[in-house]
Amino acid sequence: MANLDHLITEAQADFAACQTTTALEDAKAKYLGKTGAITEALKGLGRLSTEERPAAGAAINVVKKQVEAALNARRDALLDAAQAAQLASESLDVTLPARAQGQGGLHPVSLTLRRIEQLFHSIGFDVATGPEIETDFYNFTALNIPENHPARAMHDTFYVDDAHVLRTHTSPVQVHYMENALKENKTPPFKIIAPGRVYRVDSDATHSPMFHQVEGLWVDQAISFANLKGVVQDFLQKYFERDDIKVRFRPSFFPFTEPSAEMDMSWNDGWLEIGGCGMVHPEVFRHVNVDSEQYQGFAFGLGVERLAMLRYGVNDLRHFFNNDLRFLSQFSK
Ligand code: DAH
Repeated sequence: MANLDHLITEAQADFAACQTTTALEDAKAKYLGKTGAITEALKGLGRLSTEERPAAGAAINVVKKQVEAALNARRDALLDAAQAAQLASESLDVTLPARAQGQGGLHPVSLTLRRIEQLFHSIGFDVATGPEIETDFYNFTALNIPENHPARAMHDTFYVDDAHVLRTHTSPVQVHYMENALKENKTPPFKIIAPGRVYRVDSDATHSPMFHQVEGLWVDQAISFANLKGVVQDFLQKYFERDDIKVRFRPSFFPFTEPSAEMDMSWNDGWLEIGGCGMVHPEVFRHVNVDSEQYQGFAFGLGVERLAMLRYGVNDLRHFFNNDLRFLSQFSK
C-alpha cells in the first residue's frame, strides 16, 4: 500500500489557504469526503490480505487523525477571526458623552397648589373636589346668587348649554361637600379646602379665562370671624415664610356669605387683596339641610395664581399659561 504521509502536508497547505469556513468544507471533501483520498484508501483495505490489513489500516488512521486535526485547527482559527471581526465592527465607543435625559418638573401653579394643600392639611383641613362643568343650581342657585346677578350673564360666564356652565368659582364645592356629608350621615365639624380650576370670560395681565382658586370652609357650632382670621393669617405666614404678615377685612358683599368681606394681606408697607370671605349664609345651609340655628361657619376663596405670583415674583399671570419652557423650567429643581 502506498505511503499516504504526503496527504498530511498537502491538507495542511490546502486548509491554510482557505479564507472562509465554506471554502474549508469544500477542501475537506478532497481528503475526507465520499471520494476523498483517505476514504478511498480505507475502501482499498478490503483488497489487502488479512495479514497486511491491520498495519495498513493503522497507518491510514494515523494520517486521517492528522488531517482531521489540521481541519479542526483551521476551522477554529477561521471562527475566531470571524468573531474578532464582528466584535471590532460592533464596538461601542464608551468615551462618547451620554445623551442628556430631560428631567420634567412640576408647573409653578401645581407647586403652589401642593404647598397650599400641605399647609392647610397641617391644621386639619381635608381636600375636597367638585366638577368643573357645573349645573346652574350648584354654581349659582344653591349659593343664593339671584337671577339678575352679573355672574349669570353670558358675557361673564362660559355656558356649556342652558343648564350647565364652566364653574366660575370653587364655592359650589361647599354645596357638594355638605350635601354628600349629610347623605353619609356625617355632621359638622366640616373642615375642608377645595382647590381647583375655574373659568371666566376675562383676559389681561392679571386675568386669565382659566385660573385657580382655593375655597375654604369650616362649619361647627361656634365658628366666628376670629377663627377665619387666625386660619388665614397662619396660612399666609407659613406660605410666605414671614411672621410679620397681617390680614385685614374690608366689608363687602357676596350672596353666599353674611356678613361678607374682602381679605387683604400686608405686603411691603401696603395691602394686597387676596380673596373674599364671610360667614356662610343661612340660605346656603338651607339648600344642604344643615341647621343654621345649630351650626355656623366661615368660607373663603383665595386666588391661587396671585399667591404664586407673589411668592415667585412673577409680574404677568399669562406667563403661567403660555407654556414657554424658558419660564417653566425655572421652577423645576
Ligand atoms: N366665590 C367668590 C369668587 O369667586 C370668592 C368667595 C368670596 C368665596 C366669599 C367664598 C366667600 O367662599 O365666602 O369671587
